[in-house]
Amino acid sequence: MTQPEVPLLEVAVGSIDELEDPGCREFSIGEGDWPLRGFVVRQGNAVFAYQNNCMHVGHPLNYKPDSFLTKDGSQIICASHGAVYDIESGQCTAGPCRGKSLRKVEIEIRDRVIYARGRALR
Ligand code: FES
Repeated sequence: MTQPEVPLLEVAVGSIDELEDPGCREFSIGEGDWPLRGFVVRQGNAVFAYQNNCMHVGHPLNYKPDSFLTKDGSQIICASHGAVYDIESGQCTAGPCRGKSLRKVEIEIRDRVIYARGRALR
């Protein structure tokens, strides 16, 4: 028996102008027990989006809501054990998962509103 395909969904994360620069906002795609959880990072006029899972052991990267950056705002940091990731590439540059990369989430900006697209995990 084949599983029904999980539909591709799009959510509005918010206006780029509502985010600090640099700044982050979490989002969730899909309902139920296994939504796709992610976050966007604004850096100037550029926006990047990743799934909210550290590549070390899979914890969410943050403890505090919308908080994903190092103190100086230059990199993404995992609150659990300190893995540090490049904002633009998602590549881990220091810490226990050096060499791995965060999983990107597809985004589009229309009329300065950020939309994230993806499928719930189930
Ligand atoms: S879970 Fe992210 S560094 Fe350990």
